[in-house]
Amino acid sequence: MTLYSKIIGTGSYLPPRRVSNHELSAQLAEQGIETSDEWIVSRSGISARHYADADMKSSDLAVNAAQKALDMAGCSANEVDLILLATSTPDYFGGFPSTACVVQNKLGITNHCAAVDIQAVCSGFVYALSMADSFIRTGMHKKVLVIGTEVFSRILDFKDRTTCVLFGDGAGAVLMSASNEPGILATRLHADGSQAGILCVPGNVNAGAIAGSAFLHMDGQAVFKLAVSVLEKVAHEAMDAAGVSASEVDWLIPHQANIRIMQGTAKKLGLPMEKMVVTVDQHGNTSAASIPLALDQAMRDGRIKPGQTVLMEGVGGGFTWGAALVRM
Ligand SMILES: CC(C)(COP(=O)(O)OP(=O)(O)OC[C@H]1O[C@@H](n2cnc3c(N)ncnc32)[C@H](O)[C@@H]1OP(=O)(O)O)[C@@H](O)C(=O)NCCC(=O)NCCS
Repeated sequence: MTLYSKIIGTGSYLPPRRVSNHELSAQLAEQGIETSDEWIVSRSGISARHYADADMKSSDLAVNAAQKALDMAGCSANEVDLILLATSTPDYFGGFPSTACVVQNKLGITNHCAAVDIQAVCSGFVYALSMADSFIRTGMHKKVLVIGTEVFSRILDFKDRTTCVLFGDGAGAVLMSASNEPGILATRLHADGSQAGILCVPGNVNAGAIAGSAFLHMDGQAVFKLAVSVLEKVAHEAMDAAGVSASEVDWLIPHQANIRIMQGTAKKLGLPMEKMVVTVDQHGNTSAASIPLALDQAMRDGRIKPGQTVLMEGVGGGFTWGAALVRM
């Protein structure tokens, strides 16, 4: 019998502190930095973002999202036999030890399941989902928690208006299980390391101190152009691999980075805007967390129904990108 993987639970979490564009503009104005709700909405579609309080780490957001996914699936935490956690803002410096291990402990998992962080920046969730699917289909693991979690506010330079208005904090998770019927229909992943410099945190550690900048740097226009072109291509690769046409896709869930990139992608794929799940307006770009956040919202409000086909697409620093075609 062929073995497949299926998503059997979803969960998400946004930290309580919500900061609207108006509030952020007022805060930035106090430091002499000018921006406005009008500029942010027109360039990105973002109206608000959430920021974690100082004592809240990526693992805390992740645990909240993961627990909801476990509850939806009706599984206990100790049934999980692998945790794949995508983040660029780990609890410990350099992700050492991994946030996945911290989450294992905070969820009370005592079965010594494997746990590891995945670093593919904003594509991290799609990368982790694809890896979980491969592990399950080989029979190596049966229940995999795939988490995207970020406290991006910690790496934002609030003196750089071109980046600080775009990102926020949050977490999303799915529980994947071995299944006799197809759930993940196809995944495709790519990277182009020659583009590392257009979206990065350029500093590193030397002799116990940060050498260079520990803030996010971005060439917005270069990222924009590359994102739209690779997202269209990889979507077609995943659909072709599964033998599914665009007209058979019920929902498109692109990385929630910027409404203009999302609209451009939907248009190139010939998908109407009504088929796209949009949450970027409410939480900004939450990097690896954005796709599972949007997926969970659309599952819980009843838009996505069992049996429907969902196309997820990630793109981000590295440069990395990927797509997953999923039957829910
Ligand atoms: C970042 C982005 C929104 C900027 O939009 P843009 O139309 O390219 O804007 P520009 O960078 O050309 O800047 C236009 C003007 O707005 C100004 N500006 C930049 N940020 C601003 C802000 N927050 N508020 C007000 N003005 C701002 C610029 O200084 C520039 O002014 P100038 O013309 O006087 O020099 C856009 O490039 C983008 O969406 N890129 C992709 C970002 C992304 O999604 N990254 C994550 C991918 S994972």
